Amino acid sequence: MTSNRRTFAIISHPDAGKTTLTEKLLLQGGAIHLAGEVKARGQARRARSDWMKIEQQRGISVTSSVMTFEKDGITFNLLDTPGHEDFSEDTYRTLTAVDSAIMVIDAAKGIEPQTRKLFEVCRLRSVPIITFVNKVDREGRSLFEILDEVADALALDVSPQSAPLGMGGLFTGILDFASDTVTRPEGDSREYLGKREAFAGVAGDLPGDLAEEIELVREGYPEFDLEAYRHGDLTPVFFGSALKNFGVEELIAAIAKWAPPPRPQPAGEEQISPDRDEVTGFIFKVQANMDPNHRDRIAFMRQVSGTFKRGMKLTPSGLGKPIAIHSPILFFAQDRELADTAEAGDIIGIPNHGTLRVGDTLSEKNQVRFTGLPNFAPEILRRIVLVDPTKTKQLRKALDDLSEEGVIQVFYPEIGGQWIVGVVGQLQLDVLVSRLEAEYKVGANLEASPFATARWLKGDQKAMDEFEKFNRANLARDRDGDLVFMAKSPWDVGYQQEKNPDLTFSATKER
Ligand code: G4P
Repeated sequence: MTSNRRTFAIISHPDAGKTTLTEKLLLQGGAIHLAGEVKARGQARRARSDWMKIEQQRGISVTSSVMTFEKDGITFNLLDTPGHEDFSEDTYRTLTAVDSAIMVIDAAKGIEPQTRKLFEVCRLRSVPIITFVNKVDREGRSLFEILDEVADALALDVSPQSAPLGMGGLFTGILDFASDTVTRPEGDSREYLGKREAFAGVAGDLPGDLAEEIELVREGYPEFDLEAYRHGDLTPVFFGSALKNFGVEELIAAIAKWAPPPRPQPAGEEQISPDRDEVTGFIFKVQANMDPNHRDRIAFMRQVSGTFKRGMKLTPSGLGKPIAIHSPILFFAQDRELADTAEAGDIIGIPNHGTLRVGDTLSEKNQVRFTGLPNFAPEILRRIVLVDPTKTKQLRKALDDLSEEGVIQVFYPEIGGQWIVGVVGQLQLDVLVSRLEAEYKVGANLEASPFATARWLKGDQKAMDEFEKFNRANLARDRDGDLVFMAKSPWDVGYQQEKNPDLTFSATKER
């Protein structure tokens, strides 16, 4: 039942073309239509407008978080990773909810810093990657240079599946190796409009050096190997132009054919298979209402197993008692009949008032606990100082809420009342200050903190107590009450680790 789901994300550096490619994928999948059509269909299809209504009434932007489309019997769930310069834990966590990823690279720029960071997160979890080298309608690097850079920078085998016939002004189409056909630019816009020819008819017209380059690309790299790809050791590489629609068809076909269907998910020692009867899932993202008059949130659950039905009772691990999911936002809702159920691999949006938190497991029997959704050690720590000191209570509520959402992490020092916020990217600090102001009416300033990083402490109780006794000035509790060592420098972490071999100073915390 679950084998027709493909749940994936696109990773890229800003400007590489993620938005353009997303649009083209959705267009090909028929998920977006010409402007007028969207409205007419939306009204005609009640099931689908469920979440649109919520969105309009409450001003939540949930549409772009999960985009579902269907093609040739396969349901594609595309999860959006926020595309800021800076990135937050939100981005990392979204990658815990996908089974594969597309990596978009600009043909002229190659692997850029954010691509690399996101790639590392994928590698940690062995998320298989299909590479899309974009913008070949512009001048780019040579094919070898691009392919070798991907291979060297990311330590991956690359297996080219297509090649552009010239780039920039000389671009005359893309050769797809598998079908041995060429897709051609047409008309003034030089877009791909469906024209495809046999390569045999074209090959003779290519300039000698280009013909040779293409032959070498075709023959000189490893063949595609499904197992190596699924294991995250090899990436198939497609060339194209999202803007001009080249390579998009092939990309969708590759996801359908090669990308893994819903994978088993780790729950401690156990792996929960998508075939398990019971409905299970985990919350990977919580999005608060942007309308300050409401405090509702949407929790996004990645379904891991079972068949979900509207109104079903699930028990969140953080709560211990079951809740009925009466008004889930089902993204796969193009068809009225299907709007009331969801399968493993699908994403369900659950409106709630703060009961559901990132990392929570939801299940029918309350026996499974998914692991592997990490908090990351913040790289930037700031002391938070209230403009109006009487607003402590509001601030605490706001910090707890926002840390629940993954916007920030919060640390309450064991000594003193100076709360500390931690983030992995600068942008999160700006978001924090403006949301405190707008949604909680709390004015706050951020000041330098004496700490450089934080480490979650683990160990047996005795060792923990002992450490706590002597280091209270450098200890804090996170929002769950877990003990955190606040380090003045990375050296400090190493030093303490050496002195306290019974404890682990962990840069991530798994819930
Ligand atoms: P992002 O989401 O990864 O940040 O990238 P986005 O799709 O917004 O694309 C960034 C710019 O690159 C856009 O230019 C877009 O039109 C262009 N672009 C995307 N794909 C292609 C492609 O295949 N070929 C060419 N030639 N251009 C492409 P823009 O709208 O002019 O915005 P900007 O350049 O002013 O940012």
